[in-house]
Amino acid sequence: MPNDYDLDAELARAAESLKWATKVAVLTGAGVSAESGVPTFRASDGLWEGHRIEDVATPMGFDRDPALVWRFYNGRRENVAKVRPNPGHVALAKLEERYADGFTLATQNVDGLHQTAGNKNVLEVHGSLRRTRCLNCEVVEDRGLEPLGDRPLCPHCGGFLRPAIVWFHEALPEDVWMSAMEAAGECDVLLVVGTSAVVYPAASLIPIAKRTKSLGATVIECNLTRTSASEQADVGLYGPSGVTLPKLLERMGIN
Ligand code: OAD
Repeated sequence: MPNDYDLDAELARAAESLKWATKVAVLTGAGVSAESGVPTFRASDGLWEGHRIEDVATPMGFDRDPALVWRFYNGRRENVAKVRPNPGHVALAKLEERYADGFTLATQNVDGLHQTAGNKNVLEVHGSLRRTRCLNCEVVEDRGLEPLGDRPLCPHCGGFLRPAIVWFHEALPEDVWMSAMEAAGECDVLLVVGTSAVVYPAASLIPIAKRTKSLGATVIECNLTRTSASEQADVGLYGPSGVTLPKLLERMGIN
């Protein structure tokens, strides 16, 4: 961060652009849940809680060892069952109340904490830890957060289940992704919260928001540090989102 970085001045600029906005889109990543106790992904050792990404987050890894993958996701499900939304999530829920139908939140997170905090228009572009998909009958179901065992079977047809999560090498759910692109393309302001913005296509919502309107949306980045999205951001709120987002709402006069 440059020595002359002034969070107060950035908060004032962010609040000003939001004041005039009628359509607000938000892209969130793991950082927004960090203060709730959900680990982020890009640790320096390149592992996810001790596992190689190829082993637990690719269709090839699942084909090789489905029980390992289920143990990993059951562990994540158990962890998420214990955590609560933090003030950053709560601030985003209040922001949705302010903009109502003009508000869309696209999240790369699979923890469901935005919905627990009260957000309604949530697009889960990478799926959800709560849902399973049957490899035989394709039924997708919300199974809550209880562990499901090492090789869970479909209650309808007896086929093998997999987590309804988007893994590397897989496409995003088309309807959800189209809605996210539409929201980014139409918004006046895009808030980019707690994401390293290196995973595509999710990160492409940022250039979509910048390009598709005649003037381009104002992009506000909220992160602990600068990221690969920072060059495209008009405003930077650097610090924990559980602190900066409530401050932003305070500036906007939202309690
Ligand atoms: P990353 O782990 O790549 O990045 C987390 C970001 O959050 C980093 O830029 C941190 O600086 C920032 N951060 C950490 N704590 C924060 C805090 N308290 N407040 C604000 N920012 C904070 O996570 P994502 O960008 O979400 O995909 O990763 C994107 C995708 O990569 C994930 O959805 C997942 C993974 O592969 C799939 O599983 C398909």
